[in-house]
Amino acid sequence: MFEKSATLILFGATGDLAHRMLFPSLYHLLCDGLLPEPFNILASGRSEMDDAAFRETIRKALATYLADEHHDEARVTAFLEKISYCAVSAGEQAHFDALAKRAKALGDGPIAVYLSTPPSLFAPTAQGLAAAGLVDAHTRIAMEKPIGKDLASSKVVNDAIGDLFDEEQIFRVDHYLGKETVQNLMALRFGNRLFEPLWNGGAIDHVQITVAETVGLEGRVSYYDGVGALKDMVQNHMLQILSIIAMEPPARMDSTSVRDEKVKALRSLRPMTPETVRTHSVRGQYRDGAVKGKIIAGYAEELGKDSDTETFVALKAHIDNWRWTGVPFYLRTGKCMPNRQSEILIQFKPVTHSIFRRNGYDRALEPNSLIIRLQPDENIRLCIMAKRPGLDRDGVKLQEVGLDVSLTHAFAGERRRIAYERLLLDLLEGDTTLFVRRDEVEAQWTWIDSITQSWQESGQQVVHYAAGTWGPSAGIALIERDGASWYD
Ligand code: BG6
Repeated sequence: MFEKSATLILFGATGDLAHRMLFPSLYHLLCDGLLPEPFNILASGRSEMDDAAFRETIRKALATYLADEHHDEARVTAFLEKISYCAVSAGEQAHFDALAKRAKALGDGPIAVYLSTPPSLFAPTAQGLAAAGLVDAHTRIAMEKPIGKDLASSKVVNDAIGDLFDEEQIFRVDHYLGKETVQNLMALRFGNRLFEPLWNGGAIDHVQITVAETVGLEGRVSYYDGVGALKDMVQNHMLQILSIIAMEPPARMDSTSVRDEKVKALRSLRPMTPETVRTHSVRGQYRDGAVKGKIIAGYAEELGKDSDTETFVALKAHIDNWRWTGVPFYLRTGKCMPNRQSEILIQFKPVTHSIFRRNGYDRALEPNSLIIRLQPDENIRLCIMAKRPGLDRDGVKLQEVGLDVSLTHAFAGERRRIAYERLLLDLLEGDTTLFVRRDEVEAQWTWIDSITQSWQESGQQVVHYAAGTWGPSAGIALIERDGASWYD
């Protein structure tokens, strides 16, 4: 194990992510004795504030975002004592120098830096830290998504950070990798003998990955407009899930082996062209409707003007390698859908020959499917054919039944943690396995750029769907043309 970082410098500490996720996660880690001792958080934002005022904002955030059973006044106070605050504006070297002085006063162990700021500030912040003498071979730096807005801009960010840090010091965050359920995909595939021999185009007809959200813009309009579902969700979270489903078995569960295999799968994604994008993608935008009985204003209405940003996207992807030739991967994500539901469907092919189809009776068999639900509840369902009880005078009757495993029940009593708890701990301990390597980000952007460029060249517009539905009908047609249907 690497030496633990004893100081965390958090940029963007006044932001929403810090309040909702990062501080509550750090609080949990402290309560469970998982943080190094001593440990200090040096929080930074643009607003001028003293330590006491900042701690008060975090006290309020913890009161809002911690579950009641975890909220303990004495522990909150002990946690707040570990936090100090220093206002920094990117580009103001004197601010970084002042920050460095405070960081050095906290101790001289390795420092971890977390950038929860807009990506335009990543490079200037890292440069300010380096000029203030805060970067050495032991410093770790974590960056929230998005890394750039396309391949070219992601290279600029990665080059600037790479000038100051070696790759193993860089932790690109994709919070989906911190989710137990996403990590469990590897356990399912590589911890069981059962699935891997069938995990290829010989036995699998197609794969579906759905990440449906009930939320809409939630006040994030200034970030979201012009970005859209493809870059906000597919470029990172969904392609990470896809890479874990599609990758070859890594030799070991370590950061190099796992990420080597993921990047190979990502590089095998077939780029889209202005011709293929028409049949292989659908862009949608929600208009007014109702989600779970609540009236929702349309995207354009909330934005206050018309927009061509997609809040829904459905894609048919191909992975051009030996394992996956001929197996489409259908991806779908959207805001304001009827349910919050993230799941993966592995649709197997039919049996090669049915012995049940005889004497003029049609005993059609449903091909097997494996449904892995990641959110909100975690379960795995394998649909198999079983004989219906009976005397079978007119032939054996079969029916599809589910072999269900509720992981929530199987591990009842086990604590389910916030994805960021795991990621922050790995950052402090220097383990990059669950972070995204530069070549992965670039492979992701290469494929995404092929789609955005093809959309531009072919002039593909958003089609509207009512909030509270499963997206535009074109999204349903995208898969039904191939004789399959979305698993809802
Ligand atoms: C974020 C996206 O990365 O992930 C959001 O920017 C999205 O738009 C969120 O809502 C979804 O995360 P989760 O953990 O709620 O599935």
